[in-house]
Amino acid sequence: MGEYQKAEYYDNAYSKGDYDVSPSEMEMYYIVWTCAVEDIMNYIKYERPELDTIVDLGCGPGHFPLMLKDDNIKYFGYDFSIEAINKGKVSNWKDRKRKKFFLMDLEKDFPSHDNVIYCSFEFFEHIPFDMEILDRLNKGDVIFFSVPSFDTESHVRHFKDKDEVIKRYNKKLDVEITAIAEGQHGKQNIYLCKGIKK
Ligand SMILES: C[S@@+](CC[C@H](N)C(=O)[O-])C[C@H]1O[C@@H](n2cnc3c(N)ncnc32)[C@H](O)[C@@H]1O
Repeated sequence: MGEYQKAEYYDNAYSKGDYDVSPSEMEMYYIVWTCAVEDIMNYIKYERPELDTIVDLGCGPGHFPLMLKDDNIKYFGYDFSIEAINKGKVSNWKDRKRKKFFLMDLEKDFPSHDNVIYCSFEFFEHIPFDMEILDRLNKGDVIFFSVPSFDTESHVRHFKDKDEVIKRYNKKLDVEITAIAEGQHGKQNIYLCKGIKK
């Protein structure tokens, strides 16, 4: 099992340039982000048309917002890596009026916005305080998030199968798996989930 890493770890990883690619070159992650955009837009259209603000927790270097094409949706990305935030701003510069990036340690602070849809991709497995993050949501808030089945040196947890995902997050959310992105030889999965805060 990996361990919780400081901001410098991610600064170092992002500064090497390996992540300076388009979302479609990010393989499994591209599948997750594509399904998440579809889930989010359907949720707005069919269930909560008043929601117009996406808050991305642990946003990384801004791949997911590049896939948000709807001009009516505002996007706010939060991450504690300055490299991530700067890369997110640069790659999303064309849409800078509706896509904003902020440096924030989510262990200490939490963003405040109205009409929010939360999302968080490949973040909860990196932090010991995923349950505390969910405690910050209000009853009825929606969150789209993804977690993996595999370990790395920065994963504090991973999930054997989708039942383990449901078991953990069901404590705080009415949660369902909306898609599974399969990696090499079916050994690496990423579970995309939709949760409504209880
Ligand atoms: C695997 S990356 C995922 C990035 C992005 N969501 C994506 O899908 O590409 C995990 C991110 O969590 C961020 N992170 C880890 N701990 C954090 C904390 N305490 N506060 C804010 N961001 C944090 C890291 O800087 C990193 O960008």
